[in-house]
Amino acid sequence: MAVMVTFLNLIIIFSVVSTGKSLSLNYYDKSCHDLEYIILKTVKDATARDKTVPAALLRMHFHDCFVRGCDASVLLNSKGKNKAEKDGPPNISLHAFYVIDEAKKALEAKCPGVVSCADILALAARDAVYLSGGPKWNVPKGRKDGRTSKASETRQLPAPTFNISQLQQSFSQRALSVEDLVALSGGHTLGFSHCSSFQNRIQNFNATHDVDPSLHQSFAAKLKSICLLKNKAKNAGTTMDPSATNFDNTYYKLILQQKGLFSSDQALLDSPKTKQLVSKFAASQKAFFDAFAKSMIKMSSINGGQEVRKDCRKIN
Ligand code: HEM
Ligand SMILES: *[C@@H]1O[C@H](CO)[C@@H](O)[C@H](O)[C@H]1NC(C)=O
Ligand SMILES: *[C@@H]1O[C@H](CO)[C@@H](O)[C@H](O)[C@H]1NC(C)=O
Ligand SMILES: *[C@@H]1O[C@H](CO)[C@@H](O)[C@H](O)[C@H]1NC(C)=O
Repeated sequence: MAVMVTFLNLIIIFSVVSTGKSLSLNYYDKSCHDLEYIILKTVKDATARDKTVPAALLRMHFHDCFVRGCDASVLLNSKGKNKAEKDGPPNISLHAFYVIDEAKKALEAKCPGVVSCADILALAARDAVYLSGGPKWNVPKGRKDGRTSKASETRQLPAPTFNISQLQQSFSQRALSVEDLVALSGGHTLGFSHCSSFQNRIQNFNATHDVDPSLHQSFAAKLKSICLLKNKAKNAGTTMDPSATNFDNTYYKLILQQKGLFSSDQALLDSPKTKQLVSKFAASQKAFFDAFAKSMIKMSSINGGQEVRKDCRKIN
């Protein structure tokens, strides 16, 4: 009987570990002591060369966690007939994969075969926020890398045209709350968007309105001038927040002025609970930072994966 109980315990412990549920702060203390320093330095150096890197890393981590859990599936390359997530439809601005490769290379030199690509990405996203002036939080570690990545599954990501109920559903399917939705949407304080992501709002909006009436008039005119020109620039678009390399609470202030860029940003005013949170984060950067850190830890713990990849772009 005692043996049986111990055996069952082992199975339970083993299955928890192998699905990556038991993340811990000291996971690499013995096996790769310098990992956080190595990743921070890599992200910092890359950002010094290219200031669009932090936004890219933050979005990459979000996309990773929302498809198959945070298992670095977003980092895998397409192979043979299999088209990977990174080549799926909303891949338009996923970039800076090389930064993760650089961190992995430095870590493989120090502690080969130990640190998962999923953990590297979670830490790099944290550093990206911190290096942009945002909050810093401790990242629980011990994620495992997955062996599957399918372009078709990027359809599971929320779309910029989503309304408030679709957004809430997308987050609750991943055990993320309404507060997580509003706080994590604040990630749009960083980065750039292509016209295609908000085109729906500035032309042929619906049968009665050419332009989305929830869009501030002068802001709509500005977006039109960027996107509807005949000879518009290739890759035309705009930042979601004028202070796009600075992690701050401007995003929420803009939403209150009807200047949220995507339908999904402006939709945060469409339910009393989310509207109250937008007002709260617009009024207090500290409240936003605290909530963002808390919600990132939650999003970052969605599990998946079973191995530690040697090369972040390929399964072992
Ligand atoms: C709530 C649902 C969300 C939707 C519908 C959404 C949608 C989008 C879209 C359409 C873009 C622009 C892509 C392009 O045109 O290039 C974008 C960019 C971005 N998103 Fe989101 N997103 C959401 C949530 C998040 C979350 C949770 C985070 C991180 C916490 C995040 C971080 C970013 C960042 C940093 C960028 C800029 C990327 C860059 O400049 O390289 N987003 N998002
Ligand atoms: C997605 O990525 C692939 C390869 O990187 C590219 O050929 C394709 O045009 C991209 N799709 C979109 C919608 O940007
Ligand atoms: C949101 O969009 C879905 C799908 O188009 C629709 O069924 C639903 O009624 C919409 N909800 C709101 C609150 O507009
Ligand atoms: C178009 O959108 C506006 C604002 O959301 C709404 O008031 C109007 O009823 C919509 N018209 C149609 C035909 O759906």
